[in-house]
Amino acid sequence: MPEPGFYAAVESRRTVRDFLPDPVPQEVLDRALDAARLAPSSSNLQPWEFVIIRDPKSRQAANAACLDQLSARTAPLLIALVTRRDLWKRNRDEILRIFESRGPLRRSQTAYYKRIIPLVYTTGPFGILGPVKRLASRLLSWFKPTPNLMAREDLRIMAHKSTALAAAQFMLALRAEGYDSCPMEGFDPWRAKALLDLPRGAEVNMFLAVGKRSETGVWWDRVLMPRAWAVREI
Ligand SMILES: Cc1cc2nc3c(=O)[nH]c(=O)nc-3n(C[C@H](O)[C@H](O)[C@H](O)COP(=O)(O)O)c2cc1C
Repeated sequence: MPEPGFYAAVESRRTVRDFLPDPVPQEVLDRALDAARLAPSSSNLQPWEFVIIRDPKSRQAANAACLDQLSARTAPLLIALVTRRDLWKRNRDEILRIFESRGPLRRSQTAYYKRIIPLVYTTGPFGILGPVKRLASRLLSWFKPTPNLMAREDLRIMAHKSTALAAAQFMLALRAEGYDSCPMEGFDPWRAKALLDLPRGAEVNMFLAVGKRSETGVWWDRVLMPRAWAVREI
């Protein structure tokens, strides 16, 4: 049987661009963040960080970085969602630590996290190894199915994919709590990165404005592409 609550959240989620000033209770935020943390991620490396912008000065700068969009200006809460592919070793080690705390590592776990992951994530100084790995994968793929061993751009995409899934899960969880959100890609990435003091290899995936929708919060009726454009069978 389908779970009606889930579909209600999916169908009632809309991008909200004008918020009521009511604050988002900490327990609501925490539950939604914990739901987001359960999102699937490439190799389970969970390459994301939700930066909750509380400090009023930082908030002002973040609104500006979000091009002063109405959603950013009116939301009681603004969050920067950041990709952290730079922390792959830390997260890989944590996975291994947790596995080991549960018993001896399985051979497949050792092979995957100690050999394959470093091979995929290592691109050498200035990413110089990346194109070599990519080319090697491409050539091998003519002879047998081969995964892309990843250049830096591929690793960026991988981190953004997983992080966006966490964003989706977060927004749906908020809706299940009766709260709304606006995902924002319309921001100045350089200013955002400086504001959040991000190291090289970390990037803002999107900003998320969060709160309760005002009466005029949803701007347009929903527009959907024809189903046949979105789904096909081969
Ligand atoms: C990655 C991404 C970036 C977006 N950036 C913005 C944005 O900067 N400003 C904005 O008002 N809406 C933004 N949106 C919201 C979309 O315009 C919205 O999801 C789309 O029009 C469909 O409407 P709905 O979310 O209400 O179903 C973004 C959505 C996504 C997924």
